Amino acid sequence: MESTRRKLIDLLSRYPDEFVSGQVLSEQLNITRSAIWKHMKELEKDGYVIQSVPRKGYRILKNPDKLSANTIQWGLSTNWLGSRVIFEKTTDSTQVIAHHLGREGAQHGTVVVADEQVKGRGRLNRTWYSKKGDGIWMSLILRPEVEPQQAPQLTLLSAVAIVEALEEITDLAFYIKWPNDIYVHDHKIAGILTEMQAEQDQINYIVQGIGLNVNQNREDFNMISDNEPTSLKIETGMAWNRRPLIQVILQQIERLYERYLKEGFLPIKTMWEERAYRLGQPIMVSSKNQNWQGIFKGIDQDGALIVTDQKGRDHVLYSAEINW
Ligand code: BTN
Repeated sequence: MESTRRKLIDLLSRYPDEFVSGQVLSEQLNITRSAIWKHMKELEKDGYVIQSVPRKGYRILKNPDKLSANTIQWGLSTNWLGSRVIFEKTTDSTQVIAHHLGREGAQHGTVVVADEQVKGRGRLNRTWYSKKGDGIWMSLILRPEVEPQQAPQLTLLSAVAIVEALEEITDLAFYIKWPNDIYVHDHKIAGILTEMQAEQDQINYIVQGIGLNVNQNREDFNMISDNEPTSLKIETGMAWNRRPLIQVILQQIERLYERYLKEGFLPIKTMWEERAYRLGQPIMVSSKNQNWQGIFKGIDQDGALIVTDQKGRDHVLYSAEINW
């Protein structure tokens, strides 16, 4: 049912300015014309405005703003990422759902999206505020055929993809703060939380959570410090429809992922460094109970951070707290 509706939407979206006849739709989808009519009614419930003219057929006049599994898949031009979408109005955390699905064998590219999370979580067990309708809260289930130690590369890959997506739809410049934060104008706008289930040398699945602040106002963040977060609305002065944003992000992630499988991590590393926050500048590192100052030199082949100390020696850091 879900896939028939997706095919129906795909067919209609191929001819946005023309009517597609009931006859053609019924032949292409191999269902009766009355079944087509029932699908149209369901699509209208999801917020599509569909014009139906006798002897001409159907065309979509307006895409919905509403988020649902159907509306996210409408016009999504990916091959596998989002081929299954699970949408929840409210949930504890999309990470929890995605882990459950991952354990049950959900297919590579399954995407879980929520309108609201009541126990959204970030890195280092921090709370991730995920109010209803204010942002994109989603988790991807990935089953990459790479070694477990390469998993962090996928965080960096998605960070580049999110920056590319945001730059495609705005005139702003976005940066990546190692390892997983997206910044604009010195404020965090998005974060990525990659969690992995693996055995020795094999990844069972990865759950990659993406949180992007979209429609919050300044006062929603209770801003008191310099490192307060920001949102797309604060930065651009307008509210955003999340549906096309999710689609652009998924399209960019799939595109880069395919490139990664073909060409390896090197092109991603180069793209990441081009967008790195404060590359070449001094940073404070806290690792193994020591604090020291160094210069942020870049990332290595595994995606680990390279920092040059005051004696000119390079240090490769896999997990460290950085004060920028
Ligand atoms: C971070 O910057 O610390 C990572 C934030 C990740 C937040 C996303 S929102 C969707 C998914 N569900 C969660 O509970 N967390 C991630």
